[in-house]
Amino acid sequence: MKKFVDLDVRGKTVVIRQDLNVPMKNGTITNDKRIRAALPTVKMALEKGAGVILISHLGRPVEGEYAEEFSLKPVAEHLGKALGMPVSVARELSEAKVQPGQCLILENIRFFKGEKKNDPELAQKLADLGDVYVMDAFGTAHRAQASTEGAVRRAKIACAGPLMVSEVEAFGRVLNAPKRPLAAIIGGAKVSTKLGVLNNLLEKVDILIVGGGIANTFLAAMGHSVGTSLYEPDLLEEARKIMQKAKDKGCKLPLPVDVVTAKELASGQKSTEVAVEQVPADAMILDIGSKTEALYADILKDAKTVVWNGPMGAFETEPFHKGTVALATDLANGQAFVVVGGGDSVACVEKYALADKMGYISTGGGASLELLEGKELPAIAALEARS
Ligand code: 3PG
Repeated sequence: MKKFVDLDVRGKTVVIRQDLNVPMKNGTITNDKRIRAALPTVKMALEKGAGVILISHLGRPVEGEYAEEFSLKPVAEHLGKALGMPVSVARELSEAKVQPGQCLILENIRFFKGEKKNDPELAQKLADLGDVYVMDAFGTAHRAQASTEGAVRRAKIACAGPLMVSEVEAFGRVLNAPKRPLAAIIGGAKVSTKLGVLNNLLEKVDILIVGGGIANTFLAAMGHSVGTSLYEPDLLEEARKIMQKAKDKGCKLPLPVDVVTAKELASGQKSTEVAVEQVPADAMILDIGSKTEALYADILKDAKTVVWNGPMGAFETEPFHKGTVALATDLANGQAFVVVGGGDSVACVEKYALADKMGYISTGGGASLELLEGKELPAIAALEARS
């Protein structure tokens, strides 16, 4: 990929597609990680002497319709404070004009008709807003949309921003010739949504650990009773196939030996740690138990590369956070290069101040999962085509 860092853009207008799709509550940003991750690229462009036009989406508004709740105004304000300069919001493409040293953000690109279906006309207009089009929105690289893929293909000069480059390099260290043993830890509610990821990773990893509802389905497939736990009865056969495939490939796929159960998923619930053979019929599995924590720590201690996406249990509801936190702490203190992706895993390492000890914290949720699934991301393919 052509890299923005290598370009001379003094006096030019640089258009940067970023993923500033941050969580908001009542107009307030509740987690600014994506803005913080995007800032170095904006600063780099300004320091290079360019004028900057930012493009991002926010949420999923009805396309073509303005809705205040999806406006990027709070993001512009946040960016302005971080940059120490005003960042205005352009409602229309015709208002998106900057002088060198200025920074402006185009309103939510999903307010513009044609974004989602990658309309060539809109893509061309976006590309023509500046001299250089920088694709830095890794989190949206799995969407073939006008601002992510179309504009990259049509811009006079298109390149990858520093965040995009870091993300691609971090996942490259996992997926292409990783230092071994390579471990993947995949949590989440459902096997069905991660089936492609599990199957693709099985081709590559030496250790596969599953967590959350996925692990429950595997336990049920082994013949254990999982009480009232979240699991997928329809996926038992699929889970057995995955276990068999792991066995055939010599990939370790350990399952919990003990679990934390409760009658309900609610904060402060009375919880009980039991062996997997003893899950009560009226209780649900909400976390891994302490023996399993130790088992996983032992299996992971020699890993040289780890990719982690998804918690071990109902991490967001205490006291069911413990297994996930224990795992995160082991990874942080271990010797492996660890790539963390996905909302809950990232939230965990941030909440417990472990992020600095990890190899790389991804800004991509769906995008990182599609990479792990072995899919080509359209925006990255477009960047490669323009190299
Ligand atoms: C994300 O949050 O995963 C990205 O910003 C993509 O958002 P989308 O799923 O609404 O396209």
